[in-house]
Amino acid sequence: MPEAVRPTILVTGAAGNLGSEVVGRLKIRGARVRCLVRGHAGVRPGAEFVVGDLTDPTIVHDALAGVDTVFLIWPLLDAAPAHGLIAELAAAAPRVVYLSSTAVDDQAVRQSDPIVQVHADMEALLHDASLRPVVLRSDTLASNARGWAAQLGAGDVVAGPAMARTAVVDERDVADAAVALLLADPGRPVRSPYLLTGPEVLSRADQVDRLGVALRRRLRFQAVPADLARSRMLADGRPERLVEALVAASAHRPESGLITDHVERLTGRPAGTFAQWAMDHAAEFS
Ligand SMILES: NC(=O)c1ccc[n+]([C@@H]2O[C@H](COP(=O)([O-])OP(=O)(O)OC[C@H]3O[C@@H](n4cnc5c(N)ncnc54)[C@H](OP(=O)(O)O)[C@@H]3O)[C@@H](O)[C@H]2O)c1
Repeated sequence: MPEAVRPTILVTGAAGNLGSEVVGRLKIRGARVRCLVRGHAGVRPGAEFVVGDLTDPTIVHDALAGVDTVFLIWPLLDAAPAHGLIAELAAAAPRVVYLSSTAVDDQAVRQSDPIVQVHADMEALLHDASLRPVVLRSDTLASNARGWAAQLGAGDVVAGPAMARTAVVDERDVADAAVALLLADPGRPVRSPYLLTGPEVLSRADQVDRLGVALRRRLRFQAVPADLARSRMLADGRPERLVEALVAASAHRPESGLITDHVERLTGRPAGTFAQWAMDHAAEFS
């Protein structure tokens, strides 16, 4: 990419499942990348980074200096602490690509659960600040299955709260779609929100089956009642607020049959299957 047209892109959540995929792709494409991370672990060698919290306006101010475009995630369970971030974004006025959720219901007064509500609230805050964000609504990320690795190290059963079926999407496809938008000509019209899904609607049991094929093991998903799921997650040390949000999502998130071609529209190739994700990541579960 010629120096004169190399954009500077701030990637938030840069050490996470999705953010790390976005950073890798942007660097291959020759963009200048600045990572906002909470700690040094997980930062790619050679990457420029700012260490701090998204809720700290001073950190966000510094991170935004000279930035053309922001890949924004909001991993908190409440949008209220985002007001400082939104004010800094409004002052710096970069292009913003925000990663939201396909579970957001534009017709609903309240969303199904706190995780979806926070995405709806963040979209509204960004629009209200006249940032005209490009919104990427993602379905359940395949990489969430990494959370099963410890259980699968101990046995062949994945136990957890049941979740409504959705078209689970490979995070690599979401990263490719995000990069296409982050590097797009700013003058090009966008059809936000984009709805990124995988090619088939899957239950947790379906995902565990496919993972079993990839691992050549006979695996089984065991749905656990809410009270037991809550006490196990708390015993594992997960924060209480997150546990309550996950229990609420299990109880109230509706099943979604939504399958779109938006990954293909943005990347030029169809979305990958969870079965392929499982094959590609089998080594992480051995
Ligand atoms: N997972 C899904 O199914 C799904 C579906 C739709 C949308 N999304 C959105 O996608 C986002 C990214 O997903 P992911 O799977 O990549 O998540 P992830 O692997 O948990 O990564 C989130 C990253 O955000 C960082 N982070 C957390 N709180 C922060 C804070 N207060 N300030 C600065 N950084 C903070 C974390 O840092 P540490 O490494 O220090 O913890 C982590 O690196 C989610 O947060 C969610 O908003 C997810």
